[in-house]
Amino acid sequence: MKVFFRSLSLLLGVFPLQMKADEKEVNVAGWGTVSQSTLFYDWHPQNALDGIPSTCAHTQSQSNPWWKLDLLTVYSVNRVLITNRLSCCSERINGAEIRVGNDSSNLFSNPICAVIPVIPAGASYSYSCNRMEGRYVIVVIPGSDRILTLCEVEVYVVYPGNLATGRSVTQSSTISSWFAKQAIDFNLGFTRPESACSSTTSQTNPWWRLDLQQIYRVSRVVVTNRRDCCPERINGAEIRIGNSLENNGNNNPICAVISSIPAGVSFTYACDDMEGRFVNLIIPGDSRFLTLCEVEVYGEGPCLKQTFVKLKLKSSWSLSEAAVRVQLLTRLESALAGTGISNVTLRWSQLHKQEVMRKEAAPAQCALRKT
Ligand SMILES: *[C@@H]1O[C@H](CO)[C@@H](O)[C@H](O)[C@H]1NC(C)=O
Repeated sequence: MKVFFRSLSLLLGVFPLQMKADEKEVNVAGWGTVSQSTLFYDWHPQNALDGIPSTCAHTQSQSNPWWKLDLLTVYSVNRVLITNRLSCCSERINGAEIRVGNDSSNLFSNPICAVIPVIPAGASYSYSCNRMEGRYVIVVIPGSDRILTLCEVEVYVVYPGNLATGRSVTQSSTISSWFAKQAIDFNLGFTRPESACSSTTSQTNPWWRLDLQQIYRVSRVVVTNRRDCCPERINGAEIRIGNSLENNGNNNPICAVISSIPAGVSFTYACDDMEGRFVNLIIPGDSRFLTLCEVEVYGEGPCLKQTFVKLKLKSSWSLSEAAVRVQLLTRLESALAGTGISNVTLRWSQLHKQEVMRKEAAPAQCALRKT
């Protein structure tokens, strides 16, 4: 049998399927705590957050009755949706003010998002707040002998360009219901962390990994720490970004090491456009817990990655035949698919001009895909 040694180069292109991260709108109202100026029978303030329009929050008749939602952190509020009562007296809502701000004692000092002229009985009206920033969302009716009834209140926040949206995540271990995906559910977990934060068990080198499915240029990562206890457990966590799954992705380059994050606070780490498909957090050490209440990832992409690969083949086929070249690419593609790499396009860029004995470093570049 004749044996030929051929050298050739291939153009490997990773062509992204998903073009753009979602601009996701999320109702955050249920993640806060509520209070109101007075209580009318069992018409509790949280009845406005239960998703059931027939149960409502209701004050007594008083001056300046109010209902206040404490979101426990500052959000950019995009819009507020209010559902009026169906049964009677829908006009009582007329003149109510929606205010968004940070002042929990002097409610009237918080800026107004909207004044409600009227909402028909049983209707839900949406008020745009243009991303007003505040921790509190307040509904207050100025005046004396007024009654505030709210059947549902929804507070929508937008997360433009959070690359973590809808991605797959995994972690080294899971303690009870603290699943990995709860770190990218938009819920900061300040009221019920066990259903909104992720956590490993106590172990050596606990880690959590986000798979962006394509390569992105990551400009920053935002990490929210738990509010209920033990914020110091996050200390020493490394944020790593890259394309390798070696050591579960924990050998990728480091963007930042978290020295500490106060309880219930979100810290931003600049990653200087590091490129990668995987974002890992890992705490090196023994008997450590990795608990994450939210991880947000921002950047550009997906990137189109081109790599030139030079191969030396031992084959009795002749590469001067087009059919052989096609068949070889097909075999390479299926071999790559067998290792889980399916979104690769292979093309010949140069045929067997000469034998190359020396391996050269493959130049790689990340170009943003033009859409
Ligand atoms: C609330 O606080 C945040 C930062 O802590 C600030 O950016 C925002 O402007 C404040 N909102 C108001 C209405 O003062």
